[in-house]
Amino acid sequence: MASNLIRGTSSWVLAVLVALTVQIFYFSPIDPVVHDIRPAPSTKDNKLQNIIKLGEGLVKEAEDVAVDKEGTVYAVTRDGWVKRLRRNGNWEDWKHMDSNTLLGFTTAKDGGLIICDADKGLLKVTEEDGFIVILSHVNGSELRFANDVVEASDGNIYFSIVSTKFQLQDWYLDVLEARSHGQLLRYNPSSNETDIVLDDVAFANGVALSKDEDYVVVCETWKYRCLRHWLKGEKKGTTDILIDNLPGAPDNINLAPDGSFWIALVQLTTEGLEFVHDYKITKHIAASFPRLLNFVIGTKTKATVVNVATDGKIVRKFDDGDGKVTSFVTSALEFEDHLYLGSLNSNFVGKLPLYNA
Ligand SMILES: *[C@@H]1O[C@H](CO)[C@@H](O)[C@H](O)[C@H]1NC(C)=O
Ligand SMILES: *[C@@H]1O[C@H](CO)[C@@H](O)[C@H](O)[C@H]1NC(C)=O
Repeated sequence: MASNLIRGTSSWVLAVLVALTVQIFYFSPIDPVVHDIRPAPSTKDNKLQNIIKLGEGLVKEAEDVAVDKEGTVYAVTRDGWVKRLRRNGNWEDWKHMDSNTLLGFTTAKDGGLIICDADKGLLKVTEEDGFIVILSHVNGSELRFANDVVEASDGNIYFSIVSTKFQLQDWYLDVLEARSHGQLLRYNPSSNETDIVLDDVAFANGVALSKDEDYVVVCETWKYRCLRHWLKGEKKGTTDILIDNLPGAPDNINLAPDGSFWIALVQLTTEGLEFVHDYKITKHIAASFPRLLNFVIGTKTKATVVNVATDGKIVRKFDDGDGKVTSFVTSALEFEDHLYLGSLNSNFVGKLPLYNA
């Protein structure tokens, strides 16, 4: 009786082990390499716990924010809205697009906004025309997982593709695989041509131009750094590292009025589970079981933003180290001495006065 039970149990355990091995090695969606994913150490200040919550309840998970010349604040939400906050304090549901994949965006020089849609490509939204797709294909292939965009004064549009291998809903697989599948592209609307500025970028995320537009910056999320590609001057055409060893994984980056940059840093790992990234086998296991993945991803545990000078040094840093008031802040934009914060885990736009922060 007892021995039958043991035999039964052990064959059950064996069957489970075989199934797991098959699942892990034959059906794993990733081909990983080991890469240390621990961010640079930093101390907690919890200053983001003092933010003012704008439009609480109205703004669902705004990945990015922008402010136009008139001081109108725009937020693009997970449920497909472009909502805006007028100077008089009123929120307006401006335009709606049937999409839950809208990501980074920028104000366009001739009015309206240019928005990345991870499924559809680059969109333009204006008062008159609503949403139009401005770029849906590159070299005959569908443009997927465009993440952030900036427009230069010569009309060129620089934008990032997070990964040519994984889609938005599988973004963490790109982190686990740790091979660089991202790109920085340039679309020239007058010639209707798109070219590759940088290839093999690690999780290409936020994009910004320097104040003089002499270089373009693209952030490599799981490498904790941002690259600088020179567009003008002696170094034109070359690429170097603008900032390295960040205390969090860079998401969106925005030019500040003084020529420095604000970068939102996300927390990629959960404390105590960083080791998942230390071995191929644990990466395969996490990638194969979405429920496990939920424990591994640490984005909702805190929020951090940094102000980085053009020499790559961190000038200021604010965080909600406990994720108490906000977390998963993906965008920080300075306007008239305030920071505006977009978050994929909040239902408001955060506003932090900088003069007394
Ligand atoms: C731009 O090029 C794409 C193909 O790359 C084409 O489908 C589209 O019609 C072109 N648009 C214009 C305005 O010429
Ligand atoms: C388009 O394809 C050509 C030929 O393979 C290649 O040289 C070019 O870099 C590609 N452009 C983009 C934007 O992928």
